[in-house]
Amino acid sequence: MAERFTKSMARNIYLGGSAFFVLLFLALTYDTQSRAMPERDNRELITAEVAQGKHIWEENNCVGCHSLMGEGAYFAPELANVFDRRGAGDSATFKSYMRAWMNAMPTNVPGRRQMPQFNLTDEEIDALAAFLEWTSKIDDNNWPPNIEG
Ligand code: HEC
Repeated sequence: MAERFTKSMARNIYLGGSAFFVLLFLALTYDTQSRAMPERDNRELITAEVAQGKHIWEENNCVGCHSLMGEGAYFAPELANVFDRRGAGDSATFKSYMRAWMNAMPTNVPGRRQMPQFNLTDEEIDALAAFLEWTSKIDDNNWPPNIEG
């Protein structure tokens, strides 16, 4: 009978379906990597200072307390938009904010969550500021929705 569902039909649906979705997955991965990400991440703005700032960010495990674009810990404020929040759109203003902030830690205000003193040099803090400024310019669909993080 023509409408009989055979083992080989089932196998073909299985193999054809798998091949279709593997190819779709590969095409979407290619599209994300080659088109979507470069449009969003402003990689042309990654300077040596930004790269150095990312290393300092990682070495000091800032993400152990902070989140960056929603990833990380929720003990301390989101920092993907700290440049927008404290920098008034200006790199120099933000660098001086970052130096003042990093050097003032810990505040030792009773009842307030504390951030450690990292004893970073001015150059290292400037690099962190450059990294966080670059991060704020990634197109992350305006995450977080609130300027205070
Ligand atoms: C042990 C947890 C902890 C770690 C690790 C930590 N922070 Fe913080 N950070 C905090 C807390 C808590 C606050 C908020 C303090 C407050 O408001 O008084 C804060 C606030 C900040 C702010 C100010 C945010 C704003 O909205 O003005 C900046 C900038 C910052 N941290 C940068 C860093 C960087 C850069 C690192 C890594 C070198 C780091 N933090 C590591 C706990 C941490």
